[in-house]
Amino acid sequence: MSRLSLRRLRQDRAIRELTKQVRLSHEQMIQPYFLVEGISEKQPIEGLSGVFRETPDSLNKQVESDLEAGVHKILLFGVPKEKSHDQFSYEHLALQIQQLRQRFGNDLWIATDVCLCSATTSGHCGVFDATQNHLNNEVTVAALAKQALVYAQAGANCVAPSDMMDGRVRVIRKVLDEHSLEHTIIMSYSAKFHSSFYGPFRNAADSAPKSTTLKDRSTYQIDPTRPNDALACAIRDQNEGADILMVKPGLPYLDIVSYLHREIPTIPIAVYQVSGEYAAIDLLSERGLINRSKAHVEAWTAFVRAGASILITYGARHAKNWLREL
Ligand code: PBG
Repeated sequence: MSRLSLRRLRQDRAIRELTKQVRLSHEQMIQPYFLVEGISEKQPIEGLSGVFRETPDSLNKQVESDLEAGVHKILLFGVPKEKSHDQFSYEHLALQIQQLRQRFGNDLWIATDVCLCSATTSGHCGVFDATQNHLNNEVTVAALAKQALVYAQAGANCVAPSDMMDGRVRVIRKVLDEHSLEHTIIMSYSAKFHSSFYGPFRNAADSAPKSTTLKDRSTYQIDPTRPNDALACAIRDQNEGADILMVKPGLPYLDIVSYLHREIPTIPIAVYQVSGEYAAIDLLSERGLINRSKAHVEAWTAFVRAGASILITYGARHAKNWLREL
């Protein structure tokens, strides 16, 4: 009689391959890019090796080489030169979207982040109300809807609001539909937490809060102690017309991925492996303490295991190679 052994199914590569419960593919990854207005050369971003603040030209080149590496889905962040309290222009990124579309056609699926934090003087994700202690929801949502419309008209396949104002998905959907853009997908940063892991991003996107009255984003991003708030936001966004829900950051919020996956099984979930958690792995590997590619693949595996089908990661351009190496 053979003894029960749980090691039997771990004994060689073949049986491990046959018994995997989750499988990853570079096809489920989205690569983020920063287009920065007013710089003459691309600039490195501290903590994110191989990721740059791009000029229009350098971004085109980067996308071209990434396509060869198997990246066909991208997420664009526009960083305008002029900051303002309430007047914003979205043309710089819109022009880039048009160029990418002309150059690469439908080979490229383009999502654009929709938020004001790179455009406001305060570094906050919206426009202040008269008290200067809060963001004005209505005015901010109107500006976001305009931004989403400009990007969709320029040719974006998907708009991704990351501001955390109330009701923005409904207004964006309405404005898009009124302009015959009913094919444009809305990927809502629904479960976006008030996190310390956005550090490297804020340097890249000029978006650290600089206001003296409102020092951080705790009045609009979700408190880390409140999973139920994340669920409420996710249900609300789905009802308002979101096609994809996002959880952000990733690793510290895996419970939220699995919670939303269980409670709302009818909608795809994306996870954003944000700048700080991505950099943490890179910095450990630079110190020789862990293996970079294996650690990233392990984190990505956790996202898929928890229920995500879409991964937004600065390492998307390495995914095809790293997954093959395993
Ligand atoms: C903008 C936005 C942020 C990120 C994506 N969109 C930063 C923030 O909310 O401060 C973070 C992404 C990352 O850290 O990689 N609102």
